[in-house]
Amino acid sequence: MGPYIPIMVLVAAVGLPSSPVFGADEAILKPRVPIGQIEEARTWINPLPATEETIEKGKKLFRGKAFCVTCHGKDGKGFGGDIEPGTLKGPLPRNFTDKEWQSARTDGELFWILKNGSKGTAMAPFIPLILTEEEAWQVLRYVRSFATEEQGAGR
Ligand code: HEC
Repeated sequence: MGPYIPIMVLVAAVGLPSSPVFGADEAILKPRVPIGQIEEARTWINPLPATEETIEKGKKLFRGKAFCVTCHGKDGKGFGGDIEPGTLKGPLPRNFTDKEWQSARTDGELFWILKNGSKGTAMAPFIPLILTEEEAWQVLRYVRSFATEEQGAGR
């Protein structure tokens, strides 16, 4: 027999899922920007048009110096089913090809995440240490391109 460890200590050490009431989809669609800041974040608009050139710049950053690709994958689907939930701290990376998720978020909310990260998850802040604001808008044009078949994954 091993040493006796009270069960409450184990629960406290491992932690409990943050929102057991939500199903997978609802948990993903739930806004990530705190309630007190979301109204302002939603007013931020991507100043860069969705041209081939901008998307290409965003793709270079995504796969290059901003290393988004290491967690979000070339196909934008994140680790998907490849990784056991709980291996990463917090929820898994997004599936960027999910149109429902794409339409649930404004550009401003995504920009807020790049500035502040998503608390309690592996998604860290990238502005200003790794990305300038302009580069962040470029990378978000690329993130948006995963929503359309022709762009994103296959490009
Ligand atoms: C270390 C792993 C990691 C890296 C590197 C990373 N992400 Fe994430 N990202 C995550 C995780 C995990 C989530 C899910 C967070 C959540 O559920 O709140 C996420 C979520 C997101 C979201 C969605 C937030 C939302 O509102 O639903 C966006 C957009 C995003 N990442 C963009 C990027 C971009 C762009 C980069 C590169 C500049 C990047 N990420 C780099 C792990 C990462």
